[in-house]
Amino acid sequence: MRAIVIKSWLKDPSDMEVKDIPVPTPKENELLVRVDSAGANFFDILMVQGKYQIKPPFPFTPGAEFAGTVVRPSRTDTRFKVGDRVFGSNVTGAYAEYIAVPSIQCFHIPSTLGFEQAAGMYITYPTSYAALVLRAQIKHGDHVLVHAAAGGVGIAAVQIAKALGATVIAAVGSEGKFDICVGQGADHCVNYREPDWADKVLEMTQGRGADIVFDPVGLIEKSLKCIAWNGRIVVVGFAAGNIEKVAANRILLKNVAVTGVHWGAYVKNEPDKIMEVWNALFGLAEEGRVKPVVYEPVLYGLDKVKDALKAIANRETYGKVIVKPAETPSKL
Ligand SMILES: NC(=O)c1ccc[n+]([C@@H]2O[C@H](COP(=O)([O-])OP(=O)(O)OC[C@H]3O[C@@H](n4cnc5c(N)ncnc54)[C@H](OP(=O)(O)O)[C@@H]3O)[C@@H](O)[C@H]2O)c1
Repeated sequence: MRAIVIKSWLKDPSDMEVKDIPVPTPKENELLVRVDSAGANFFDILMVQGKYQIKPPFPFTPGAEFAGTVVRPSRTDTRFKVGDRVFGSNVTGAYAEYIAVPSIQCFHIPSTLGFEQAAGMYITYPTSYAALVLRAQIKHGDHVLVHAAAGGVGIAAVQIAKALGATVIAAVGSEGKFDICVGQGADHCVNYREPDWADKVLEMTQGRGADIVFDPVGLIEKSLKCIAWNGRIVVVGFAAGNIEKVAANRILLKNVAVTGVHWGAYVKNEPDKIMEVWNALFGLAEEGRVKPVVYEPVLYGLDKVKDALKAIANRETYGKVIVKPAETPSKL
């Protein structure tokens, strides 16, 4: 089969090469999935350069999210059969025609979604749902300020907050992304590259401020200027590359709660919450109230993964960037 193969740390993701390698042999708890669509992530860039917290042994195939068809079921998990449409995630292996993956890291694709939509859902949607519902305790009528609102977790947060009855203020780095956010349910948009964006949020909330700030960027300090009394800030990530130090007196002044979300760590710490979150998301997906947004153009061929990662690094993308490994996959 064709796969991206990393044999040593790369200087740049554009050095990635597609090779012919054997189809992986699944262990008894694993499914063999023919990958229809792979979801690209910023951390793929770091991983192939050896700069990510996880450093897989060589050789490895990067790519953490996929959707496709089961071609060999697990011997220990009867939930999946040959031909089932599934999506899932693994530390490595998705930038390939086939992936062998533990069945517990897979779900059936909701009937309302296609492969391309499902391929980018595994990380972003539960993160955003857990942030808003478990951590920020979102309520109907809340004003929710979503930073990086056109990005992977951001766009999911816009849809989820809207579905749960909030008024959504989408904050992005360029006005070109306003239409995308409005299309996903945002009520207002601001450009956080403009110095007065926090004043605009205050205007949009009649001076009260946002009840919830969803922050995957690193904008806590500035968001404290436009947060409401009893506001909740959820730290989701640091896309701007800077980890803030926040003056604690500003947290006290407006009775603010600052909280974090680390979705990947729920497996270890609160595994019972995982299906609670997914069942809620599957319900919203089946009702058509959340629908993953796929960046256009969808890229065809594994040699296009480098283009996907370049577009992400340049902040050109919205939603999830999807790569289709092969129109006609290698025979098993
Ligand atoms: N806590 C968790 O469990 C969890 C789970 C998933 C992801 N995350 C984190 O959440 C963050 C966003 O992930 P994502 O998948 O949504 O990424 P993404 O799709 O690549 O979106 C990130 C967005 O951040 C914005 N941004 C602002 N300042 C930036 C800068 N200096 N450089 C690059 N981008 C900048 C960009 O939008 P604009 O151009 O509009 O500013 C960009 O599109 C990452 O830090 C990721 O690690 C955390």
